[in-house]
Amino acid sequence: MRVAVIGAGKMGRWFARVFSTEGLSVVVCSRTKSKAESLRAEFGVEVARNNVEALDGADWILLCVSLDSLDAVLNEIGSHVRPDQVVMDIGSIKEIPVNLLHKYVEHGVTLGTHPVFGPGAKSLHGQNFVLTPVGDEEKRFADEFRDWLAKRGAVVSVLSPRKHDELMSLVLGFPHFVGLVAGDALINSSNFVAANEVGGATYKLLLTLAEAVSSEDPSFYSNLHMSLPEMEKIEALFLRTVEEWLRLVKTKDCVSFSGKMEQVKKRLRELDPEYEQAYRAMYRLFNDV
Ligand SMILES: NC(=O)c1ccc[n+]([C@@H]2O[C@H](COP(=O)([O-])OP(=O)(O)OC[C@H]3O[C@@H](n4cnc5c(N)ncnc54)[C@H](OP(=O)(O)O)[C@@H]3O)[C@@H](O)[C@H]2O)c1
Repeated sequence: MRVAVIGAGKMGRWFARVFSTEGLSVVVCSRTKSKAESLRAEFGVEVARNNVEALDGADWILLCVSLDSLDAVLNEIGSHVRPDQVVMDIGSIKEIPVNLLHKYVEHGVTLGTHPVFGPGAKSLHGQNFVLTPVGDEEKRFADEFRDWLAKRGAVVSVLSPRKHDELMSLVLGFPHFVGLVAGDALINSSNFVAANEVGGATYKLLLTLAEAVSSEDPSFYSNLHMSLPEMEKIEALFLRTVEEWLRLVKTKDCVSFSGKMEQVKKRLRELDPEYEQAYRAMYRLFNDV
């Protein structure tokens, strides 16, 4: 089995490592040649001179390029894909990439995929992976790829591209938004520096979210945020909810505040099987107990 990895950034490097550890033959190509070369040195992969050359003899072609490069890369390679080759993208949104795969890949099988983890993951074990096949041919390959991933311990979901993007609005877009807004509010508070010295576990949790999210690539995050279909809906819901809670605080309505908190607790406990572990997990994380 031979895999072509196009794009040697954070995720391209990750997949090149995992595929070579699996003993697959791996060829890499990237816009900045030195990035592909460093993967040759690290993992012993082959390096192609250009994206079209990388396709030679590959069974799977994995596109690990940034979302804003996908159109150009598919335009370049699309007509060179043979009927027995599979082209997958790994973008964090799925409707636009899947449409691009269908637009440019004239022969060969296509599949939209989304590894829902970052380059810090050690292996596929325990990681969520979404596949978004459209049509019978893609579904057949998705079954094969799902088995391959599942054998390596990944937790695989099969969704439509649209459903994937709706869910990612909540799974990615919402925590990013909350983290960025919280970070922005924290740095504008005159007590921010002093608070850092005395903050407990809940404060550290909030600060960790704000710092983790803000350390990511701004162009990737803004691109992602503007492409997720449900962001306006979720942010409007968030804003309405903030206003409801704020009204209780402003009117010093302790009874309604406690009642609302009980409601949130009850619903989260009913809906999230891991609810009971959350409190202890947070304290374990920040070594406060
Ligand atoms: N990062 C994550 O946590 C994560 C998680 C899941 C999925 N994803 C998805 O994975 C994809 C890649 O993300 P990433 O974080 O790995 O991005 P990245 O670090 O920016 O890597 C993208 C790579 O693609 C290369 N590239 C761009 N245009 C190219 C072209 N025309 N031909 C060949 N290579 C080209 C870039 O080259 P240069 O070095 O020259 O810029 C760069 O090395 C995105 O679609 C993202 O949505 C990311």
